[in-house]
Amino acid sequence: MLGRLNHVAIVVPDLAAASRVYRETLGARVSEPVDLPEHGVTTVFVELDNTKIELLHPLGAASPIAKFLAEHASGGMHHVCYEVEDILAARDRLKAAGARVLGDGAPRIGAHGKPVLFLHPRDFCGTLVELEQA
Ligand code: CO
Repeated sequence: MLGRLNHVAIVVPDLAAASRVYRETLGARVSEPVDLPEHGVTTVFVELDNTKIELLHPLGAASPIAKFLAEHASGGMHHVCYEVEDILAARDRLKAAGARVLGDGAPRIGAHGKPVLFLHPRDFCGTLVELEQA
């Protein structure tokens, strides 16, 4: 069911500092910050040959990652995103297996304009999992 690793998302307290770490210390290709108000985040994309790292910072008071940053002041890994061919088939298979799909179970349009779902970390080795229809 799982395809490629689409991205790993890391919440950071300072996007400019995190961008410098990836661009200068680690020598990666790093985008300019992109505001995604409908998702409550500002994102910097780190482009690797085989996947992406998304550096996330809260945007606005209702940001879904504000609590994460409050609890992890120096930032941390937030979720991994795997590609699936058919997100509804994946959801139904996971629900049938007893896994918890967050929200109402209906895919939302994610940060890349494609349908996404999030899966409960307790069902997946303590890691928040995002599925994106490729
Ligand atoms: Co994501």
